[in-house]
Amino acid sequence: GALARHAEINAQNARMIRDAGALLNAGQLVAFPTETVYGLGANAFDSDAVAAIFKAKGRPSDNPLIVHIADYEMLDVLTFTPPALAQTLMEHFWPGPLTVVLPVRAAVPSVVTAGLDTVAVRMPDHAIARALIRAANLPLAAPSANRSGKPSPTRASHVAEDLNGKIAGILDGGPCTIGIESTVVRVLDQTVHILRPGMISVSQMARVLAPDVTIVDESTRVLQTITAPRSPGQKYRHYAPQGDLQVFVAKDLAISRARIEKAIEEDQVHGKRTAALMLTDGAENATYRVELGSPDHLETYAFHLYDALRACDRLSIDCIYAQGVTHSDRSSGIMNRLIKAAGGRVEELDSDD
Ligand code: TXA
Ligand code: MG
Repeated sequence: GALARHAEINAQNARMIRDAGALLNAGQLVAFPTETVYGLGANAFDSDAVAAIFKAKGRPSDNPLIVHIADYEMLDVLTFTPPALAQTLMEHFWPGPLTVVLPVRAAVPSVVTAGLDTVAVRMPDHAIARALIRAANLPLAAPSANRSGKPSPTRASHVAEDLNGKIAGILDGGPCTIGIESTVVRVLDQTVHILRPGMISVSQMARVLAPDVTIVDESTRVLQTITAPRSPGQKYRHYAPQGDLQVFVAKDLAISRARIEKAIEEDQVHGKRTAALMLTDGAENATYRVELGSPDHLETYAFHLYDALRACDRLSIDCIYAQGVTHSDRSSGIMNRLIKAAGGRVEELDSDD
């Protein structure tokens, strides 16, 4: 497949992007970098091409896709004039890691929306993604470019691990700068519903909205009532490594560190291969250990998370332990992914004080 190695557009990768645009127009699938994770793109108006995305990923057909656009003219093709509140969010956060769910026009194939009366739209902030959409001159339906259920890809090599031989090409833009997927919102009346938290937080949105606007994080509710998901994607196990992942959350990181070190000691008695995803030092006894930044700098956690989970798979790790972070405005996207990757195996260690 085509390879464009740098986020900057030079003569060589401009040609690769043009070739990739032609492949998309011919109904093929091309993986491309965005600032969040790699996407697996197809012409959003080609039902067969979009159906091929579901097949390549092994994705359940009732989980709708995000359509990626490069300008507001493409938005008009997908939806009607957005509500004022949605427009304010787009003005402030587009291009960027925000997806907005809007009423869908009849021209959009139902395979994209899984038959819903809404379409999720995002204008990515990545030079290659934008150049590709422009080269194809098409809105691109693109889920994360991983096999369904696996950690999302934040490097071209992750895409290749999962989809080699199944897609026409991969544009390589290096590691994704954000590392977890976009914040997905739906606007109804004067309320913003967060369907999937991401690195754009409640307080960042609140700052640009009028004081009478309510912002509700639906994702935390959905985790409790998994039988009635508001966003179809919320009901499936996601982002999961092969090993058993367990998350320990403590305000005092020395407590979660000690708990992880003890668990690793016990595993080693049973000959298990272990991994520690840490916010502090310690857990030197792990087979594989990685530091994911600090509670004050959760951007680093997001940047490394999926790569660390995939590294665990490559190293055949049996038991993975992660230091989680306490609930905050900045942590909800990361904790949402960790909770899902762990299949809910999250333990709070000092919640009583
Ligand atoms: O950052 C991202 O959003 C990445 C990059 C490639 O842009 N894309 C991504 O796509 O994460 P995907 O397919 O892995 O996740 C799309 C999410 C799913 O949770 C899906 O259920 C939700 O968006 N979604 C899509 N259309 C929707 C709709 N009409 N209503 C509610 N939720 C929707
Ligand atoms: Mg995904």
